[in-house]
Amino acid sequence: MGKPESWDVVSPSSFHPLITTKNNMPTLLHLDASPRGDLSISRQLSAAAVAAWKDKHPGGKVIKRDLTKTEMTFVDLDWINGAFSTPDQLTDRQKSALAISDTLIAELLEADQIVIGTPMYNFAVPAVVKAWIDHVVRGRKTFNYVATGPEGLAKGRKVVVAVASGGSYDQGSGSEAYNYEIPYLRHILGFIGITDVTFVQAGGTMRVAQGQVSSEEFMTPLLKQIKAAV
Ligand SMILES: Cc1cc2nc3c(=O)[nH]c(=O)nc-3n(C[C@H](O)[C@H](O)[C@H](O)COP(=O)(O)O)c2cc1C
Repeated sequence: MGKPESWDVVSPSSFHPLITTKNNMPTLLHLDASPRGDLSISRQLSAAAVAAWKDKHPGGKVIKRDLTKTEMTFVDLDWINGAFSTPDQLTDRQKSALAISDTLIAELLEADQIVIGTPMYNFAVPAVVKAWIDHVVRGRKTFNYVATGPEGLAKGRKVVVAVASGGSYDQGSGSEAYNYEIPYLRHILGFIGITDVTFVQAGGTMRVAQGQVSSEEFMTPLLKQIKAAV
């Protein structure tokens, strides 16, 4: 990716104040993206990951962000112009367009660890996950362009992602190439500096829905895997 001129080298702290100063309390950000409530496999797995994290960090703080219940706008002109302005230059409309982005970025930067539960929709991330990404991947907040190229500003965080899909895209399934979700998530998290990412692939949920395999048989190895990943 080329370096846009308007993203030229600017110290992040000279622009918007960054919320990178953390308290000492271990903090986990828990994101969910399935609208299927208790039936959701990705939610069951992310909940197990959060429970395992809480066991490891009694007294730790969990920030819960249910993306299916979060009002998120798409990136629009006010968002773009606001993101490239200093706080004192922001119009009311730009402030309002950036408000949800500010909140979601603050949650991300407050966390040491992130657990994401997400379905696969149309071979990629659901729209709510993409909307979250569009709000948190923001110049001078979570990435910056420096002399050597882009630099992620959210380094040092660990992420565990549970991806539920009707079909299977596991290694050897023959369908790996159609999985645009995991490579994309790996890339975009890396872009903001997060490289410690573990994916738990719950592929083949269709077999549970069709009664070909019991929920317990399907979930047991995945629950073991996700608990170990936290
Ligand atoms: C709109 C929609 C699109 C879907 N697209 C895919 C897909 O591209 N590939 C796939 O394997 N499963 C697809 N599925 C199936 C879901 O990934 C599967 O039901 C998964 O278990 C949903 O996650 P959840 O159990 O956490 O809700 C789709 C389901 C819906 C509702």
